[in-house]
Amino acid sequence: MTDPNLAIIVLAAGQGTRMRSRQPKVLHMIAGRPMLGHVLVTARALEPAHVIAVVRHERDAVVAIAAELMSELVFVDQDDTPGTGRAVELAVEALPPGFEGDVVVVSGDVPLLDAATLASLIETHRGVSAAATLLSAVLEDATGYGRVLRNATGILEGIVEQRDATPDQARITEVNSGTYVFSAAALREQLPLIGTRNAQGEKYLTDVVGMLRAAGATVTAVTAPQAWMVSGVNDRVQLAEASRRMNALIVTRWQLDGVTVTDPATTWIDADVVLAEDVELLPGTQLRGATLVARGASIGPDTTLVDCEIGENAVVKRTDATLAVIGAGATVGPFAYLRPGTYLGADGKIGTFVETKNSRIGAGSKVPHLSYIGDTTVGEGSNIGAGTITANYDGVTKSPTVVGSHVRTGSHNVFVAPVTIGDGAYTGAGTVVRKDVPAGALAISIAPQRNMPGWVEENRAGSAAASAAEATGE
Ligand code: UD1
Ligand code: CA
Repeated sequence: MTDPNLAIIVLAAGQGTRMRSRQPKVLHMIAGRPMLGHVLVTARALEPAHVIAVVRHERDAVVAIAAELMSELVFVDQDDTPGTGRAVELAVEALPPGFEGDVVVVSGDVPLLDAATLASLIETHRGVSAAATLLSAVLEDATGYGRVLRNATGILEGIVEQRDATPDQARITEVNSGTYVFSAAALREQLPLIGTRNAQGEKYLTDVVGMLRAAGATVTAVTAPQAWMVSGVNDRVQLAEASRRMNALIVTRWQLDGVTVTDPATTWIDADVVLAEDVELLPGTQLRGATLVARGASIGPDTTLVDCEIGENAVVKRTDATLAVIGAGATVGPFAYLRPGTYLGADGKIGTFVETKNSRIGAGSKVPHLSYIGDTTVGEGSNIGAGTITANYDGVTKSPTVVGSHVRTGSHNVFVAPVTIGDGAYTGAGTVVRKDVPAGALAISIAPQRNMPGWVEENRAGSAAASAAEATGE
């Protein structure tokens, strides 16, 4: 249900100089989602009638990604006047002229703030019919933040930016989180009046708070339940810290939903991953993108899955996989590399030092050791011998290999594609399969072995090999 009296403005126009990046700050990733994406997901949860993002720096890149994340998002371009105040001023102008509800302002660089905290901020704001309600936080280290000024009786007086603060003000530990609720009317009245006479020569949104107070309006502040919720990401140190926090929240949520996580500190789960009950995640596991893991599967240790689908009770050890689908009860690894388009059927196996790509390995089929399987289809119940290579590329074109069901191929085979091995066929060790093998046939391509007796004594006299051979008395 949309709240017709709620608009949300997301500030995302800043340059993010301190990131020292070619990429706009709000597009840096946290838990597999751009920072801005987390803010938009939170905004959507409040079901506002309007969501406006203010953009300027790397505008096209930000718009392209943000529009994908939220189709109903309206973009407003900030002009040459810098500052959060100007950003909000332009966004308010983009609201329908008749909009008289509440305007929530959030920053695109504050990814950890949750919808429940924002909802309670709005509730407080509406409860006291305030002109402005500010979310503050008490920080041990307030460096870089605007400080909340209160009078002797604790009444909120205004906000001073760190760079404009007196030494006394700089010692204040209550900071402005950059998250607010304003009445639309208060913003329309005050924003045109703020100037740029400050250390940064910007229109500060924070000035509105003091101006409303001076005009006798009701202005309140709510302290965030946890200070880390409102931490802004301005540099890469803060980016890593926010990622760690976000991951801890995600891991805890899955643990409470029935997932065993042996070592939360080394387990990284993206925001869009979905896990079932009784999934087990061993140390060093990274589940990224849209990965899905079904009930009872065990992942790790030291495994990275990107956009993978893992079936019930499958076991995936020390594996790197992208866009792979693993069937129920199948086993993968240790030390497997599954590239996009790998499908492993139920109870199948991709074993140790095996690389697969664009291949379908049927139910109960196994590729246990030291193999490269590319552009291949394997039927059901087949076994691919150790050290098998599909030669799928002749330097010009890629060709398919088809292996039937209940096939047994020998160790150290090369399947020179395009080639088909029929159902129930066998191949000998070391076979280079260049021609199709009919169903039920045995294929052997190796020249007969020839032994030359006494060769070592004749050619390597006096060597350790010669003595060893002589000692056998044969
Ligand atoms: C701002 C607040 C500060 C608060 C801190 C919390 C002001 C003046 N200061 O400071 O009191 O403690 O956030 O994190 O508001 N942006 C625009 N247009 C601009 C400038 C910034 O859209 O012209 C956006 C940025 O992209 C960012 C957000 O506004 O998402 C905050 O800007 P930033 O420069 O990071 O402000 P801070 O210095 O952190
Ligand atoms: Ca900031």
